[in-house]
Amino acid sequence: MWGVLRSSGGVGPGGDVGGLVEVAPAAGLREVFRRFSPDARPLWRWLWLSLVLVVVSPLVDAGAVLLFKVLVDRVLLPRDFSAFVPVAGAFVGITLVVGGLGFAGQYLGAWVGENFLHRLRTRVFEHLHTLSVGFFDRRRLGDILSRLTGDVAAIETVVLSGIVGLVANVVKVVVFGGVVFVLDWRLALASLVAVPVFAAAARVFARRIKVASREVRRRAGSISVVAEESLGNVALIQAYGRQAAEVERFAEQSLGSVRAELAATRLGAMFSPVVDLIQVLGVLTILGVGIWELTAGRITLGGLLAFLVFLAQLYQPVQGLGALSTSMFGAVAAAERILELLDEQPRVSAPAHPRPLGRARGRLRLEGVGFTYPDTTTEVLSGLSLTAEPGQTTAIVGASGAGKTTLLKLLLRFYDPTTGRITLDGVDLRELDPAQLRANIAIVLQETLLLDGTIAENITAGRPQAGTAELVAAAEAAEAHEFITALPHGYDTRVGQRGRLLSGGQRQRIAIARAMIRDAPILLLDEPTTSLDAHTSDRILTPLRRLITGRTTILISHNLLTVTDADHIIYLDHGRITETGTHTQLLTNNNQYAHLYHLHHPPTRASTATPSVGNGAVT
Ligand SMILES: Nc1ncnc2c1ncn2[C@@H]1O[C@H](COP(=O)(O)OP(=O)(O)OP(=O)(O)O)[C@@H](O)[C@H]1O
Ligand SMILES: [Mg+2]
Repeated sequence: MWGVLRSSGGVGPGGDVGGLVEVAPAAGLREVFRRFSPDARPLWRWLWLSLVLVVVSPLVDAGAVLLFKVLVDRVLLPRDFSAFVPVAGAFVGITLVVGGLGFAGQYLGAWVGENFLHRLRTRVFEHLHTLSVGFFDRRRLGDILSRLTGDVAAIETVVLSGIVGLVANVVKVVVFGGVVFVLDWRLALASLVAVPVFAAAARVFARRIKVASREVRRRAGSISVVAEESLGNVALIQAYGRQAAEVERFAEQSLGSVRAELAATRLGAMFSPVVDLIQVLGVLTILGVGIWELTAGRITLGGLLAFLVFLAQLYQPVQGLGALSTSMFGAVAAAERILELLDEQPRVSAPAHPRPLGRARGRLRLEGVGFTYPDTTTEVLSGLSLTAEPGQTTAIVGASGAGKTTLLKLLLRFYDPTTGRITLDGVDLRELDPAQLRANIAIVLQETLLLDGTIAENITAGRPQAGTAELVAAAEAAEAHEFITALPHGYDTRVGQRGRLLSGGQRQRIAIARAMIRDAPILLLDEPTTSLDAHTSDRILTPLRRLITGRTTILISHNLLTVTDADHIIYLDHGRITETGTHTQLLTNNNQYAHLYHLHHPPTRASTATPSVGNGAVT
């Protein structure tokens, strides 16, 4: 239901399918109001004020039209110039008042709307950060961005502009309708013939406009998906010369959006002349009846003209209500996409009463842990049991896809095990607050994750309260201080998005400094040296060892140099532990681990394996 369509290839010319994003679950207008009005609650006072302004201006307008009646009957017909001056003065006065009210209403409306947007946007963003990492594996980032910007803005149309527009137009209908009845109720009744015709037309259009609006929002999401994926991978695309194909992919979604917009516009634009036609029918009916009333002397010519002007004024808000319903449907379609995000619950959440966890000792235990990724069927980990004592290093080796990284994700509690349990100092991770658990963990990953900011910001992200002395100490321990001070802006050098402006080895040493400054009892290392060449990876071994010392470390590595001195080595094969022991034991067993080791370190003539570059417990 919340899944995202994989890029379906079958886009026929003019076809409706295509698009990379699924339509969100439908929601009614009432639900949209109920769910989003809390965001508007603090703004209600101001909204009321703008409603008052909105109500007052048609009243003043009505005064202007009545003045028109006075102008015809008292000034123009009697040709009385002396009466003209006060009437003209009144016209100017009314125009000024209407102008002032209009300005205040418009500005206040925008103020309320923008503040509402700000609240909602921030709430959605905050909610996204409560969701589990798995959610972002399943969703396309571009679509989420499109919802956060485009769709959030569209909701404002329903909740605020919608209310204001609705009230303004209804008030106008009531005021002008009332005046029309007072002027001549027979004429007024005659003008009502148009109402049922209008209602029928509105019904027919409403359903179609709703469908078209959903398609418009979905297409906006698809464009954003392609743009984000494509521009986020510029290097890959240029290296493989895929620019033209990417442009085509983008153009396809863009065309889809054009089609959707045109379909929606067609409906909206058709609705307008239909309303006009109904209006003309109404006016003609009234003229017919009006001639009769005029002949019977029940109405003056000024009265009839004023009546017609009022009627024209009456149709304008009616038309406004029609246009409003069109934009409302667009907004509801956008709201559906936001509600879908807001309804997404984090799969991993803090228990109601988490067990307090200060600084952990760092005893990690897996008891019969099995895991299957959500929405998949293959078990990635099964029957995993192991214990890591405080301060010990456990190395995990195994073929690609064996489930090593998945195990780290479980330890970070990005996911919960499907079967079995993981404990920290004897407490099930599910009984802990994930934030407190993660405060006890430092990580260094293969793809080093840096945030766009300065080097200092990236290192102190490990412990925001750290001071400059600690920052430099951590950088020195990570052997990063030297290269950092050689940079033109030193610690204040910006690293660029994802750390693009630094080399792989530099990024990795910053990641080590970040883990160092965090000074957590548990350390998770996922192939910290794999992306580096032999020389660079040798250079970070010393700081890595410094980091590992005294912490419970789970180390995933293909670089068996870092593995050899681990307290335990665990060989993972298709999610199961097939061998455990120390490096020496596993070599003696001469099984999978030994094979892997010999692959990296071909044995010399001697029968026992002797690593060419060795350190640690090697026979
Ligand atoms: N988010 C995910 N959703 C579904 N399946 C996944 C997800 N991430 C990984 N997998 C699957 O789980 C299995 C184990 O992946 P994992 O990343 O743990 O392997 P690994 O041992 O770390 O491999 P490598 O050495 O290549 O990093 C793989 O078959 C992979 O396809
Ligand atoms: Mg991995």
